[in-house]
Amino acid sequence: MPVNLRGRNFLKLLDYTPEEIRYLLDLAHEFKRMKMAGVPHRYLAGKNIVLLFEKTSTRTRCSFEVAGMDLGCGVTYLDPGSSQMGKKESIADTARVLGRIYDGIEYRGFDQSIVEDIAKYAGVPVWNGLTNQFHPTQMLADVMTIEEHFGYLKGINFTFVGDARNNVANSLMVVSAKMGINFTACGPKELWPEESLVEECKKIAAEHGCTIRMTDDVKEGTTGADVIYTDIWLSMGEPDEIWAKRIALLKDYQVNKELMANAKPEAIFLHCLPSFHDTKTTIGADIAKKFGVNEMEVSDEVFESKQSKVFDEAENRMHTIKAVIYATLC
Ligand code: CP
Ligand code: NVA
Repeated sequence: MPVNLRGRNFLKLLDYTPEEIRYLLDLAHEFKRMKMAGVPHRYLAGKNIVLLFEKTSTRTRCSFEVAGMDLGCGVTYLDPGSSQMGKKESIADTARVLGRIYDGIEYRGFDQSIVEDIAKYAGVPVWNGLTNQFHPTQMLADVMTIEEHFGYLKGINFTFVGDARNNVANSLMVVSAKMGINFTACGPKELWPEESLVEECKKIAAEHGCTIRMTDDVKEGTTGADVIYTDIWLSMGEPDEIWAKRIALLKDYQVNKELMANAKPEAIFLHCLPSFHDTKTTIGADIAKKFGVNEMEVSDEVFESKQSKVFDEAENRMHTIKAVIYATLC
């Protein structure tokens, strides 16, 4: 059956079938080819979109802005301090107002229920630009990058190392289950994903001939992997006071040369970014001073290595977000 996503929200990948995800990936590859060839694609001229950010961003904001502008849309960015939302106006009221003015709404913020509520009231497509639970646009870029590198997704052995119950890890488990990727979460038991989500993903994975597993053993979790992925140890919205605890829990799960040596020789390294791989950021420098840790979730050596495809991945955020905007607004 032909895929038609016009008018749909993009809130989490659990709502999308593998065929729909495939359609978005094909569209993203096509938009990338067009962009590279300098072929204009202002298919949505006359439409307007608004980007609502309650947390900071570089990639997601810029990708939505450039993707929207390439498609010919007008784009408004609202930062955490510059809208009435939450302080003087409820989520429901904000959504109903923005839905009258714009053709699509992107939201980055806290609980998943907020973006689900916006979608309930907006009357126009709503796109999740990251919540505490999920980061679905990131996943499209991640699997696009894997596909560009290996040429296929089914049967890829994928290991997420670190804080395996954060938004990125949750979403990676979902997209893996849907696209036939063998997913391993490798981290301390305290940071494994919620049991209910694991069970749901295991059921989906069984339908698509792949597996979902959890382990706290680095050797077991990373041996034979095609893709090693990690994310920061403390996500936006989590209190700074727990840095010490998190570092203690995760220090043995740093992606470094020794860990990468367990994976296949042709394995790649991915990270959603931003990353603490050195002390060239204020937080990185502060952590180094307080805890003596100069590199956190990934060593600088791996981050800068040939196996690292993190900047291809970052670029693909724009092409995949363009596919989502186009498919839902066209
Ligand atoms: N990966 C990602 O979402 O990056 P930003 O926080 O910069 O948007
Ligand atoms: N887990 C990270 C992802 C950043 C893109 C966070 O939520 O801060």
